Amino acid sequence: MNKVPSSREDLEILEGYFSPQLDVSVKLNTNEAPFPLPETFIRELGSEINKLELNRYPSRSASELCAAIASKELLKESEVFVANGSNEIIQSICLAYGGNGRSALIFEPTYAMHSQIAKVTGTRVIEGVRDNEFQIDKDAALEIINREKPELVFLCSPNNPTGNIENPELIDAILSELNSTGGLLVLDEAYKEFSESSFDLTVDDKSNLVFIRTFSKVWSLAGIRLGYLLAPEWCIQMMKSVSLPYHLDSVKQKVGVLALKHEKEMLREVIAIKEERGRVFEALRSLPVKVWPSEANFLLFKPETVDSYKLWEGLLEEGVLIRDCSSWEGLEGCLRVTIGSESENDSFLTAVRKIVE
Ligand SMILES: Cc1ncc(COP(=O)(O)O)c(C=O)c1O
Repeated sequence: MNKVPSSREDLEILEGYFSPQLDVSVKLNTNEAPFPLPETFIRELGSEINKLELNRYPSRSASELCAAIASKELLKESEVFVANGSNEIIQSICLAYGGNGRSALIFEPTYAMHSQIAKVTGTRVIEGVRDNEFQIDKDAALEIINREKPELVFLCSPNNPTGNIENPELIDAILSELNSTGGLLVLDEAYKEFSESSFDLTVDDKSNLVFIRTFSKVWSLAGIRLGYLLAPEWCIQMMKSVSLPYHLDSVKQKVGVLALKHEKEMLREVIAIKEERGRVFEALRSLPVKVWPSEANFLLFKPETVDSYKLWEGLLEEGVLIRDCSSWEGLEGCLRVTIGSESENDSFLTAVRKIVE
């Protein structure tokens, strides 16, 4: 009998990421785009892939893609870092600025991977809270930062799974505090394109603020795993130091460049999703359900007449998979539904009505 190697003790309590991947007809649980990629994109991608020399390692700097992103974001190529999904960006940030003896401040409820990835990298997680409408109290946040001096602070706007944007005054206050304590403010903007609001903030060498974006949502490219970081050069240099050599494959780099050329078509889908979000919001509001306004491609809601797990299970029986958030801190009884295509949303609403009324 072998003695099974013991893993790091601090990893034993971690549960990992859990969102069931079930074979159902209506998948509204992971905030993906419901639309397939434009046909012209697929055709062009085929011919671009044919031209790739896959026997060679990819460009290590992914410079064509970084330059394309920089031009879209009106930044320098040296202020862009690309990785395998924004989760890998979060991991790189934690590897560079977190780790043993360091801490990250997050405000629950928020995107679960901020704390999960921090913990995996040995970073101590400090949990701040949000109020009943999921806002963060500025004074309480500043007090924690002063007391704990975290190396990292994660904010998420629009916030997953609650859908609200972070208050611009709060962001300013936290940033100015971190500029003096030497902490880094990480603003996760995975759902930015679905929001009407925009912040008057950009990358600046003298400001400890970085932005995370992804191709997984609005770009209909969750399957390709591509995300990026917009940050001052001193931070991008650190990302390069902690990433593996040739971490971003050639196919993915091409997909990203091509996607940016099709930006207009992709952004057209956002309008459709926002309209559907309004329709689903109103429909849920007419039912015995509490639903929160959202600036993302999902809605958080809480049934008032049935147990949330019963509703989740009932929907699954009808072939509709949504996210059960009821066990998350601060989200007792809550469920989250991704805004899908019109017909997917209809299937969801018909099934909800049948169960809650
Ligand atoms: C707020 C937030 N950030 C990051 C991610 C991860 O996205 P990616 O697919 O780019 O790793 C998600 C995915 O759901 C998310 O909700």
